[in-house]
Amino acid sequence: MTNVAVIGSQWGDEGKGKIVDWLSTQADVIVRFQGGHNAGHTLVINNVTYKLKLLPSGIVRSEKISIIGNGVVIDPWALLEEIKTLQNQDIIVSAKNLIIAETANLILPYHKEMDEIREDTAGKRKIGTTRRGIGPAYEDKVGRRAIRLMDLRSETNLDQRLDIVLQHHNAIRKGLSKKTYRKDELKKNLIKIAPEILKYSQPVWKLIDQFKEQKKKILFEGAQGVLLDVDHGTYPFVTSSNTVAANAATGSGCGPDTIGFVLGITKAYTTRVGEGPFPTELIDQDGEKLGKRGNEFGTVTNRKRRCGWFDAVLVKQTIKVAGIKGIALTKLDVLDDFDEIKVCIKYQLDGEEIDYFPAAVEDQKKVKPIYKIFQGWKLKTRGARNIEDLPSKAREYIHAIEDLVASKISSISTSPERDDTILLEDPFNS
Ligand code: GDP
Ligand code: IMO
Ligand code: MG
Repeated sequence: MTNVAVIGSQWGDEGKGKIVDWLSTQADVIVRFQGGHNAGHTLVINNVTYKLKLLPSGIVRSEKISIIGNGVVIDPWALLEEIKTLQNQDIIVSAKNLIIAETANLILPYHKEMDEIREDTAGKRKIGTTRRGIGPAYEDKVGRRAIRLMDLRSETNLDQRLDIVLQHHNAIRKGLSKKTYRKDELKKNLIKIAPEILKYSQPVWKLIDQFKEQKKKILFEGAQGVLLDVDHGTYPFVTSSNTVAANAATGSGCGPDTIGFVLGITKAYTTRVGEGPFPTELIDQDGEKLGKRGNEFGTVTNRKRRCGWFDAVLVKQTIKVAGIKGIALTKLDVLDDFDEIKVCIKYQLDGEEIDYFPAAVEDQKKVKPIYKIFQGWKLKTRGARNIEDLPSKAREYIHAIEDLVASKISSISTSPERDDTILLEDPFNS
């Protein structure tokens, strides 16, 4: 028995929420360790849809412990709203099943405003962020001027911390001819909601240590994907946290040996929201068809996701960078109606063939995919729960992906529904 970390192996939205929810039957504790409400994880259980942004996907099972680790950035109002929305869907959220690290950093309104100011002034060079204030909040964390959850415990302390952080923000805002941010209203509002959030706060590192002693099974739930990782992604078109599995330890307060098996959630094709390089992007009918069949609209911002063929070069690389040990292949059913399905197996860059994704963004934009073409199966895989139920051509596609990315596929998802999933190898027992 081992713990499992679930991470996205592409540009996010691979179906992490669905797989975490499905695996949660076996876990005792589900932990978010990075990102914030830029994430949008969709769960479909008996036709009912739940959209989670900050809360771990384990929250829909009241008998499990859901943890928001220190590595997550929390917009307190977004958190309270999400809790309320779920409670209205009859989900139990209480201090018994939700625990938030007291050391987690807060996203405050001036972060969101800074995110918007930057995006609006960047013109063509914008990143296409979710405008939730994620980047500016992580900047303040690293700049050692952030407000952490525990800072809400004392008004005097909060007052001092706000002075420090606003001195920084207001200097930038003045430089950009924007109105300076005043602390009084914000302080008042924070003090008002403090008890509602502080009731969930605990030293998470200590709890995780206890869970380990008790041999409880921990499932770490990553947000975004490796190609959006601030170190290993398509920088600067990335998010502002490390999305790789190693951050599950830092972002929750345990050693790397706690992580166990790393499961990389991988879409059977590729999507991306926001700006940045995307070698296999399809700006044609096939791209439209993938988007339509896959319902590729952002969970958080409702933006249309860019769609393209599966890129084996990218996924092979993210598997290595993130230490992925097995893949959950999702959205296979979206490919059910294609005559031909392409997979990128190499790139051409300046007349030469390469088998890796170059680091420079100019090269990333220049690479041309070299495709291997597969015949489509043109049969229904949607809803399949056994590997034997898949058409032979679909199985060929799956095995080819395994070979091309040099990793085994340990499960396959065939619809948004929780149980429409094929288990080939149990990650908790690998
Ligand atoms: P996440 O951010 O990685 O959790 O993924 P999202 O929830 O943002 O996006 C994945 C979308 O695909 C959601 O609407 C899911 O309900 C849906 N989904 C997940 N797995 C499958 C699948 O195997 N087939 C289909 N058709 N949809 C899926
Ligand atoms: P989940 O967890 C897909 C993208 C944004 C933008 C870039 C930076 O649902 O897979 P940010 O607001 O984080 O500063 O935006 O990252 N992005 C995501 N794309 N899925 C996500 O999360 C994402 N979270 C951020 O679109 O390109
Ligand atoms: Mg998503």
